[in-house]
Amino acid sequence: MSSKHIVIAGGSGFIGNALVGEFLARDFKVVVLTRIPRERIDGVIEAKWDGRHVGEWARFLNGAEAIINLAGKNINCPHTPENLHELTGSRVNSVHAIAAAFEVVKIPPRVWVQASAIGFYGNTGSQLCDESVPNGSDTLAEICREWEIAFNSANTPTMRKILLRIGFVLGRDGGALPVLSKITRCFLGGSVGNGRQYISWIHIADLTRMFAMAVENENLRGTFNAVGQYAVMNLEFMRELRHALHRPWSPPAPVWAVKLGSRLMSSEPSLALAGCRSIPKRFLEAGFNFQFSNLPDALENLCG
Ligand SMILES: NC(=O)c1ccc[n+]([C@@H]2O[C@H](COP(=O)([O-])OP(=O)(O)OC[C@H]3O[C@@H](n4cnc5c(N)ncnc54)[C@H](OP(=O)(O)O)[C@@H]3O)[C@@H](O)[C@H]2O)c1
Repeated sequence: MSSKHIVIAGGSGFIGNALVGEFLARDFKVVVLTRIPRERIDGVIEAKWDGRHVGEWARFLNGAEAIINLAGKNINCPHTPENLHELTGSRVNSVHAIAAAFEVVKIPPRVWVQASAIGFYGNTGSQLCDESVPNGSDTLAEICREWEIAFNSANTPTMRKILLRIGFVLGRDGGALPVLSKITRCFLGGSVGNGRQYISWIHIADLTRMFAMAVENENLRGTFNAVGQYAVMNLEFMRELRHALHRPWSPPAPVWAVKLGSRLMSSEPSLALAGCRSIPKRFLEAGFNFQFSNLPDALENLCG
């Protein structure tokens, strides 16, 4: 494969699609590793992998500028024991498969950018969480711990490695915003639970620029919170969303209603009831400039 190409594992989803656009615009050739490859007309190669074993796909890593790994079962599902097993396994196994693939590649990628989540910190109330805050103890924190251990223990002595603990990503084409917008348009966009849980949101356009910075800035390595500058409480988030969608008032959703709604939507209530007030300390220190610093602008851009 010719020079300046990038491989995105799990690149067929919400964040992956946005990253494909970002790196095509930056003149990269892009290879997506996916379990179900499709023909594309944008020049992107989709290569088949199973997210567990080294295969033919490993040849695309040869000489790549970067490997980005986003693969993992979506957390928006009931957190039953079976689903939790798959949530962890799909993340840890994909990391192991990529690490094992480097052993059969002549020129490994220069940098490995790995997704994690601010769920690493747990349900932390109003505590400000920069990258130095220790691992939490709830279910998502445990999943993130295993995910990060797999990445940090991969034997890649010469490779630059970056871990992005991603927050609540706001975009038109995936993640939670389209669902929340739909509910809010139906006058059901009230605050959730006591409304005091923090939402560390980030606009998808800023997130893709963070990934690009991670790939292109040779000085960056280690763990970074990939969140916006100003986390807000759930009650403020929902108020701004109602404002953006011209729905002046909605009744608050008590915990029992969130649990019932989650059940009806095959989701997990803790995703809405727990929170984390995270800050992008290391990205700010590295000089990252946010395009969307405040929530009303981000929502106006995405919902207006
Ligand atoms: N969106 C957010 O707000 C957010 C926040 C924090 C962290 N993250 C993390 O960022 C990553 C990407 O998020 P996203 O929102 O783009 O998720 P997504 O839309 O669900 O995409 C994830 C991709 O992972 C692959 N995948 C799913 N199940 C898999 C399995 N069992 N084994 C191997 N691959 C599997 C899928 O690709 P194929 O079906 O094509 O194989 C899918 O396109 C995830 O790891 C997620 O946990 C996201």
